Amino acid sequence: MIQHFKRPAAMRPGSSMPPIQLSDAQLNSLAAFLLKLNMDNATALENAPEFATQGALVYTANHCSTCHVVNGVGVKIGPPLNGLSKRQSRSWVEEHFADPAKLSPDSIMPAYKLSPKDLDNLTTYLFALPE
Ligand code: HEC
Repeated sequence: MIQHFKRPAAMRPGSSMPPIQLSDAQLNSLAAFLLKLNMDNATALENAPEFATQGALVYTANHCSTCHVVNGVGVKIGPPLNGLSKRQSRSWVEEHFADPAKLSPDSIMPAYKLSPKDLDNLTTYLFALPE
């Protein structure tokens, strides 16, 4: 798939698809995404609210899964984030991103300077996660 993204006509003679200009990491992510796509999750994805798609993108772009588990995926260095809304208030979570150690002494979580929109989408996404 990645070879095809890079040089469509070399893999499919006569293909009029233009080469996709992305980094290797982005091509890997795109291929992994397409391999996981099926009728059920494609419908869910299409119907996902904008905040969920945007919030999940902020989560992925900041590599939060190197320390957290969401829906069973990730590394358990910090607490799993499903059910967050039962444990913390929205203002606590937003303040925590700016300075984790201020609210959780000795926290190893780095601080995140997010734009107001990214912060809003990320927090809304995390609060919408099922328990
Ligand atoms: C280097 C590891 C690390 C990274 C990267 C990291 N975290 Fe954390 N996170 C932790 C640890 C450890 C805690 C528990 C201590 C604390 O509250 O700060 C935590 C706590 C949290 C909490 C509070 C959870 C609760 O149940 O109280 C939230 C929410 C959170 N992280 C979200 C995120 C998000 C979203 C990202 C990415 C933008 C992220 N973290 C990146 C390590 C990390």
